[in-house]
Amino acid sequence: MRNTTSYTSEAFIIEGGRTLRGAIRVSGSKNASLPILMASLLTREVCSVEGVPHLLDTQTAFELLESLGARVEPDGERVLINPASVNNQKAPKEVVRRMRASVLVMGPLLARFGRAVVSMPGGCSIGVRSIDQHLKVFEKAGARIKIKHGYINLEVERIRPVEHTFEVITVTGTENALMFLSGCERRSILRNIALEPEVIDLVDVLRKMGVEIEIEDRTAIIKGSGELRGFSHRVIPDRIEAGTLMVAGFLTGGEVVLEDVRVEHLGNIIEKLREAGALVDILSLNSLRVKGGGNIEPLSISTAEYPGFPTDMQAQFMVLCSIAKGVSEIRENIFENRFQHAAELQRMGADIHVRDRLAIVRGVEKLSGAEVYSTDLRASASLVLAGLVAEGITLVKDIYHLDRGYERLEEKLRELGATIERLPQKDV
Ligand code: EPU
Repeated sequence: MRNTTSYTSEAFIIEGGRTLRGAIRVSGSKNASLPILMASLLTREVCSVEGVPHLLDTQTAFELLESLGARVEPDGERVLINPASVNNQKAPKEVVRRMRASVLVMGPLLARFGRAVVSMPGGCSIGVRSIDQHLKVFEKAGARIKIKHGYINLEVERIRPVEHTFEVITVTGTENALMFLSGCERRSILRNIALEPEVIDLVDVLRKMGVEIEIEDRTAIIKGSGELRGFSHRVIPDRIEAGTLMVAGFLTGGEVVLEDVRVEHLGNIIEKLREAGALVDILSLNSLRVKGGGNIEPLSISTAEYPGFPTDMQAQFMVLCSIAKGVSEIRENIFENRFQHAAELQRMGADIHVRDRLAIVRGVEKLSGAEVYSTDLRASASLVLAGLVAEGITLVKDIYHLDRGYERLEEKLRELGATIERLPQKDV
């Protein structure tokens, strides 16, 4: 796969006030694709992954796999990964800085080669995001960890089975631990694991590879194997893209049908949208319709691990609250610095007061178009949503954040009737 990854400062120009109508297909999940692509490192056999969205982050994942020595080839809808030739176990700084999820190579590389070297991820704009919980599992199972010159050096001769309780529920920490313990032929127990659908999608893949995994409540019992098989898998639909489009349909007073979703993964999002006044009709296990048009009621939202309300939808719902008929409260419990979009929304006329992890949002009559800056992936999505309902023109800058995680978002919104264009870097 070619290296197409680059940071640009392209922008979106949006003319607000259009009502979104129509049907749209949701892409495959970014956060399910990344660990599943990395799981290919556990085997020598060819792996086939379908539904991987075309994004900066998935391109970075392909580059990373190739830099480790794997062959990555697109084949129509699928990506084929041949990991037989992997001969390098180092994830360099340039890649980890671009995509934190690069740390997901630690578990599989350690399991297959007994060695991994990964640049230490720093904090990021949404919080400190330490990886201590990942390292604690590796260490308990016998890995030696040294941090030198900004790199984490991990080595293990033989993975010991563990009985371990995570102190913090972590998505990629759980994924790394599951991939790592897939290399241990004896039974391990992990408690207080993350149960996000993306984690369960990885579990499905690991089972296809020959790992025995049972999950009950927040406990996983896992028994790996010395020799894991290749797999063929289609990733689950992206529930955050689905949620973002649902908010777009509702906010603009439109009627949007989403296809290729997994309704069972959208429970909390549907519940909050209905509470806000949306009509959400479940058409099948894989499709639903969202209708807006009436009042937008204020909400009380508190982010939590799945099945709670996702932190990755908090920014988008803040837009909805900013034009609701009353005062909403949003509490961010997962990341300590995930309200940066609030300041940008204020530039568009929103009335938001942030104190620590609580945002009080007083609904205003209308937002007004302005020039705003993306600070992270979901913050960018919220600014696009705000632009769709604001009066006049909104310019959303630094949209490379958005390109990391949404496939063709502006095209999809245009198909639904939005007026949104991508401005090339030179015109911004
Ligand atoms: N944490 C620790 N120690 C650890 C790991 C996590 O203290 O070793 C803390 C974090 O600092 C954070 C909380 O635990 O406060 C939860 O972090 P988690 O590890 O669950 O986050 P992550 O695995 O790094 C994934 C998604 C994020 C999503 C979060 C929460 C991927 C690649 N990323 O991150 O997605 O917000 O889970 O659901 O799966 C996004 O797509 O925009 C995004 C940020």
